[in-house]
Amino acid sequence: MGEGSHVIVLPFPGQGHITPMSQLCKRLASKGLQLTLVLVSDKPTPPYKTEHDSITVFPIPNGFQDGEKPLEDLDDYMERVETSIKNSLPKLIEDMKLSGNSPSALVYDSTMPWLLDVAHNYGLRGAVFFTQPWLVTAIYYHVFNGSFSVPPTKYGHSTLASFPSFPMLSANDLPSFLCESSSYPNILRIVVDQLSNIDRVDILLCNTFDKLEEKVLKWVQSLWPVLNIGPMVPSMYLDKRLSEDKNYGFSLFNAKVTECIEWLNSKQPNSVVYVSFGSLVILKEDQMMELAAGLKQTGRFFLWVVRETETDKIPRNFVEEIGEKGLIVSWSPQLEVLAHRSIGCFLTHCGWNSMSEGLSLGVPMIGMPHWTDQPTNAKFMEDVWKVGVRVKAEGDGLVRREEIVRRVGEVMEGEKGKEIRKNAEKWKVLAQEAVSEGGSSDKSIDEFVSMF
Ligand code: UDX
Repeated sequence: MGEGSHVIVLPFPGQGHITPMSQLCKRLASKGLQLTLVLVSDKPTPPYKTEHDSITVFPIPNGFQDGEKPLEDLDDYMERVETSIKNSLPKLIEDMKLSGNSPSALVYDSTMPWLLDVAHNYGLRGAVFFTQPWLVTAIYYHVFNGSFSVPPTKYGHSTLASFPSFPMLSANDLPSFLCESSSYPNILRIVVDQLSNIDRVDILLCNTFDKLEEKVLKWVQSLWPVLNIGPMVPSMYLDKRLSEDKNYGFSLFNAKVTECIEWLNSKQPNSVVYVSFGSLVILKEDQMMELAAGLKQTGRFFLWVVRETETDKIPRNFVEEIGEKGLIVSWSPQLEVLAHRSIGCFLTHCGWNSMSEGLSLGVPMIGMPHWTDQPTNAKFMEDVWKVGVRVKAEGDGLVRREEIVRRVGEVMEGEKGKEIRKNAEKWKVLAQEAVSEGGSSDKSIDEFVSMF
């Protein structure tokens, strides 16, 4: 059952969303489904087949003209993307039906809940895909149903928040939009809106696995038909055409693959600190300064990803001063790096893709969350999964160099470090079990496929 059925997959046009959803396409293709991956793009190309014959990529416009700057106003961006999808998708579905290749379902990104009605209007089942873990979505649900009120300012915030099936959370552990309603009102609306029609959704997919969020999951499963299918850790290299697509905002093949790996090859096992803050985080100049000084002071080898837009914040002469101790690249082949035996720990912003990758590859982590879901992910990483530690910021919000040195030391050596490494190994095995044949996520994928 299900083999040969056709499903449309539509991610939000952001790297942290496209990556797991294109990986989902590959998993579904391996189970015999036909996939059309619709990518919202600033310069859409004609549709093309990936190296997997059963996946077709169908780029559609994002609603912006050449020369316009899309991300200046988020509300405008979301509106244009919505209009553009609503203009293109119905025609695409109609054309598919006419050509005898009728799709059975639309798997859409949770940040675009209005796609459920588009699916239903055209006779497709609607499967929402959450790229972030339940621990975050469940909290947004409490805001949606009114059982948690976001305070207008940080000062009005109680110190601890309690949710069913959660450890106590301090204000510091909450998703950033929930600390202060005035901080990012439009993003707060978007994340809460994800739940607006959740009771009507046919299937809920999430990039997590059952054992990882056992307690929260029990609560979530009592409400909705949930299938956990993660971790959606992509294979070493994404499909070449896909990764060159403008939607990524970069090409994976710009990553300094050979340079990073050769450099790592020359290092001892578990000796290198890998530092990356994903595709969006922007650090203040003084924070970059503290981070750079901290890395240098550890005296350890480090591989640091500093995106091109951030490089002018690297302190002057830093590269000369560190010499052989550090390698700075603008983009790394992160999975290959995390899988390398020389990596001793991962200093991460705790974006969900990075955290899933770190967990699946058994790498101890140092969390330096910035915003959105990252503080909550960091809380679970340190206190629930116990695979790392989280840096503490001073009252002015800055993480000082001494703190970085201390935390790197804590994870890389001593009793606590050993304990963390043991736990990291445990979670690696559990993550791999989940996606292996017969594992919980693999069975969930089978269940999904059998629905069509
Ligand atoms: C965003 C949000 O910031 C994050 O909080 C949310 O959970 C998902 O959306 P992003 O900041 O890009 O994502 O972080 P993350 O989710 O960690 O995704 C980054 C991806 O880029 C990872 O898959 C990682 O492997 C990849 N990457 C990053 C590289 O391939 N090379 C690099 O040098 C850095």
